[in-house]
Amino acid sequence: MPELKWIGKDAIVNHHREVPYRLLHCDSELSAGNADSGNLLVQGDNLEALKALLPYYAGKVKCIYIDPPYNTGNENWVYNDNVNSGEIKQWLGKVVGKEAEDLSRHDKWLCMMYPRLRLLREFLKEDGVIFVSIDDNENHHLRAVMNEIFGSNCFVADIIWRSADSSNNDAKKVSMDHNYTIAYSKRPDWISFALPRSEENNAHYSNPDDDPNGPWFAGNLSSPNPRENLRYQISHPDGRALEPPANGWRWSKQQVEEKIASGEIVFTDTSRGILRKTYLKDQKGLAPSSLWVDIDETGHNRNAKYELKNIFPEVPTSELFPTPKPTKFVEKILRIATKADDLVMDTFSGSGTTGHAVLNLNKQDGGNRQFILVEMDEKIASEITGERLRRVVNGYDKGGDSVKPVEGLGGGFRYCRLGTPLFDEFGDIDGAVSFPDLAAHVFFSETGAPIPQRVDGSTPLVGQHGAQIVYLLYSEPEQGFARIEAGNVLTPDMLTNLPAAPDGFVGERVVYAEGCTVSADRLKAEGIVFKQIPYSIQGA
Ligand SMILES: C[S@@+](CC[C@H](N)C(=O)[O-])C[C@H]1O[C@@H](n2cnc3c(N)ncnc32)[C@H](O)[C@@H]1O
Repeated sequence: MPELKWIGKDAIVNHHREVPYRLLHCDSELSAGNADSGNLLVQGDNLEALKALLPYYAGKVKCIYIDPPYNTGNENWVYNDNVNSGEIKQWLGKVVGKEAEDLSRHDKWLCMMYPRLRLLREFLKEDGVIFVSIDDNENHHLRAVMNEIFGSNCFVADIIWRSADSSNNDAKKVSMDHNYTIAYSKRPDWISFALPRSEENNAHYSNPDDDPNGPWFAGNLSSPNPRENLRYQISHPDGRALEPPANGWRWSKQQVEEKIASGEIVFTDTSRGILRKTYLKDQKGLAPSSLWVDIDETGHNRNAKYELKNIFPEVPTSELFPTPKPTKFVEKILRIATKADDLVMDTFSGSGTTGHAVLNLNKQDGGNRQFILVEMDEKIASEITGERLRRVVNGYDKGGDSVKPVEGLGGGFRYCRLGTPLFDEFGDIDGAVSFPDLAAHVFFSETGAPIPQRVDGSTPLVGQHGAQIVYLLYSEPEQGFARIEAGNVLTPDMLTNLPAAPDGFVGERVVYAEGCTVSADRLKAEGIVFKQIPYSIQGA
């Protein structure tokens, strides 16, 4: 497969592995509604946020939607779209080193996107799918990089979305009225959910003859391909012999006779003399098309702004978040890719459209989808993303006198920030790390799976994954405590008192601790594997 090369790529291909694991701290003042609803808004660079979330959500996300900076070079936006923002610049400097100074904006953009996409893929369920919005600045590069990361056999579609409601007559070349949303699945056999049929889709069905099977329309009785064996005459009750269409009839003579008997095929007075009823009740939902041009269905850039203006009536239009997507657009993605209990992720969340779309869709279909959003810019995260979600959860006033307040959608979210890295500069576990945080990390680094449920440290048993049971002996450092007294060492007594494996368990019991005084023979006899912290978990 052809591979895209760019300056800085070599430095970046494995960068996602070097990103430190950080803790997440929740801020209850900025959270809203039911904080236990499972929804999360993380403020921070998504690279670090993704790493922090991995031990909890790896392999659990059904649908990722991201709308990253398009790299237009337009510096006048609220956030810096060409990856020159302070954090990214500093990060590129650190990671790509001296070479970073020579990078073109496309190289920089690719350096920014590559490790994030690598991590995002790790969050997808086996039947999960990622959608990425983009325009002509980077579409071709993004396709190449996604082919490399997700596999070209997992390409789903490059959806064309009509983003402008009217063309730009001042365009010197061509008015660009659309952008793209590229979709890749985790596995090649991913199947989309059908979209509901609209009234317009159903408009040509009617029931002029009171057919007990309901509305129908006159479908085609011709075979789709030339079939010589289906070329036969059908006798009309008025005495005519009906000649077959050019390709032959759709079914064999016997099947046609059965359908005449059941009323699905009926004779008419027309020159064709026969028709087949296609019933509305037999129609499935619609397969999604790659063309999203109906602005009533999926909105456009300007009405995404109106939508935001309704939620933030006090903000002058010129100061609104500049590049929101319409909620209807993201809702369509969620309809295609999620069902009621699925987890949705958006790590370039901007004004929070994805969170809003999740809450909207849950309200419409009684679902319980959950979202994880990440936004780097602190002001945007707290004053726009978080504030929008707060308003749509609790209800809000659109401003003006005549308008009724908008009812809240319910639900809620936790607002979190990134905390200290798990390991300090000397490679030791940071003093601020608690047992539950370390347990989640240890479990993930051992099994590659997220911790089944958060533990509180009342037992060293962290969890089971297949043929592995993971234990952790760790208490947060306290001055003057020797490691054995603190219970951080696997001693013969500790081993005797470890919670037993369930009856019939066959597999490995892995114990993470700072040290071990149990003989190798006893460990082997009891099926115990000892792993020393912090060394055994640093490279996870
Ligand atoms: C195009 S906007 C997304 C708009 C969003 N879809 C909406 O409907 O409002 C991209 C957002 O990603 C944020 N962003 C850029 N780089 C980021 C990073 N490394 N980590 C997290 N957020 C980032 C920007 O601050 C901006 O808010």
